[in-house]
Amino acid sequence: MKLTLKIWRQKNAQDKGGIVEYPIDGIEPDMSFLEMLDVLNEGLINKGEEPVAFDHDCREGICGMCSLFINGEAHGPDRGVTTCQLHMRMFKDGDTIFIEPFRAKAFPVIKDLVVDRSSFDRIQHAGGFISVNTSGNTIDANTIPINKDDADKSFDAAACIGCGACVATCKNSSAMLFVSAKVSQYALLPQGKVEAVDRVLNMVHQMDLEGFGNCTNTGACEIECPKGISLENIARMNREYLAASLKG
Ligand code: SF4
Ligand code: FES
Repeated sequence: MKLTLKIWRQKNAQDKGGIVEYPIDGIEPDMSFLEMLDVLNEGLINKGEEPVAFDHDCREGICGMCSLFINGEAHGPDRGVTTCQLHMRMFKDGDTIFIEPFRAKAFPVIKDLVVDRSSFDRIQHAGGFISVNTSGNTIDANTIPINKDDADKSFDAAACIGCGACVATCKNSSAMLFVSAKVSQYALLPQGKVEAVDRVLNMVHQMDLEGFGNCTNTGACEIECPKGISLENIARMNREYLAASLKG
């Protein structure tokens, strides 16, 4: 396949940045999107040019590192996949592909296509955990009976990989889908109930401090989420937040 890539290049956080055009040839339909960028970078390095910086780690849809906005869609045109799982067969020979970083005030660009998503880490630190003593006579988690429906919903929420596609795709740059998944995975389990009040209040407070926008229920986040995180989690978090505010 022969393609024209229009890629966001930005030297550093202070640089204004802009789109640069790169023609590329010899791309196989079975290559992943990141393999295609590897081919581009190899060519740039051979020519003595600066390669395009982009994030990746597992390349298996697990770590949530890859974060590209491709032709106006977070993680590109396929559904239920991350950028690293996107294949070039989703494009046609001769296509022009626009590649940009995930954009949000709370995700500042570090370089080219790499953004700083440590705001998500700080939200997680604010309450995305349970405090248990793991030494001594800890009760085996399997001995606590949990309703199958709740266990399944908690597991579904825990599938969030923190990629940030929900924020990048939301016109308000809201992080509600991410935060609600992290709140829900504990709220549904007995182990999570002990710190439930502090968790939701602290995580939502940190989310607001980081500069994410408000949710206006457009539902774009759910459509672009590679892990199928449901909007149901946002409704659950709102209920948890209201109940916690009344208690707090
Ligand atoms: S909710 Fe979905 S889109 Fe948002 S961070 Fe989690 S996995 Fe990514
Ligand atoms: S590189 Fe890990 S999810 Fe894409």
